[in-house]
Amino acid sequence: MKVTASANANIALVKYWGKRNEQLILPQNSSISMTCDGLRTVTTVEFSDNYKKDTVVINDEELKKDEKNIIGHLDRIRKLARIKSKARIVSETNFPVAAGLASSASGLAALTLAATRSAGITMDEKELTILTRMGSGSAARSVCEGFAIWHRGNKEDGSDSFAETIAGKNHWPEFRMITTIVTESKKKVSSRAGMAQTVKTSPYYNGWLDSVDDDLTKVADGIKRKDFQTVGLAAEANCLKMHALMLTTKPAIIYWHPATVEIIRAVTQWREEGLPCYFTIDAGPNVKVICASMNEKEI
Ligand code: DP6
Repeated sequence: MKVTASANANIALVKYWGKRNEQLILPQNSSISMTCDGLRTVTTVEFSDNYKKDTVVINDEELKKDEKNIIGHLDRIRKLARIKSKARIVSETNFPVAAGLASSASGLAALTLAATRSAGITMDEKELTILTRMGSGSAARSVCEGFAIWHRGNKEDGSDSFAETIAGKNHWPEFRMITTIVTESKKKVSSRAGMAQTVKTSPYYNGWLDSVDDDLTKVADGIKRKDFQTVGLAAEANCLKMHALMLTTKPAIIYWHPATVEIIRAVTQWREEGLPCYFTIDAGPNVKVICASMNEKEI
């Protein structure tokens, strides 16, 4: 059956940066994100015995290299469904891929949903987040609407490392995330390779692990109480801490461009002038600005 599914990107307010199990994609820490309604991937999957090989087309371009191990993810789904057919995957995003705008998150989430349905498997949301997680960690959160937490979990088999919504999309409709596009070019170091190198080499990694639970509590409480300042300040500090890990990785991972720093400085200055806004940045140069809807236009 040919099935189309859509999923939206999510931007983490408390970041995931490091795995405790690379095969199953089990994180070192829990993370919290917001699923964004403006950044969307629509993916169509068709398993058919007429196909001789798997093909993946993203934004009209056929993938030559299996970047996020998409075929590995399909194999996982084929195994669950006990089928051998090859698939054709056609995916469209309305934003640049691989530039730190979480394209792999919405991509893997939409792929998992479309491919499981196409292969005849039905799963509940929790099971879907676990399966999606094995394709790409942050993608597990894109299965969930609104604000989502991806639990670190403690079990070796990953059965307790799933994502769930902590506040639905109607909980805080004034919350905005503005994405700036500093560059659309692909980044040189993938999140996957970068975080593995950080866990191995950054002398600050234990400091990250020791302080991340506090960030999680602040952000989760702030979301619950709709306390903009608490969420914004904690998200910004957590993002800077993650970039400090990147900078202290050997060899250093520097995702920022001059314009990244310009936007950081602008956001900080606007805040000093009384315009409430905060920034967050993922594994790329593009800055996301967090603000309330009443200030969206001005920012
Ligand atoms: C900086 O989820 O892309 O965006 O699990 O190896 O596929 P893999 O990594 P990925 O890493 C995302 C890292 C991040 C932070 C975050 O989204 O929490």
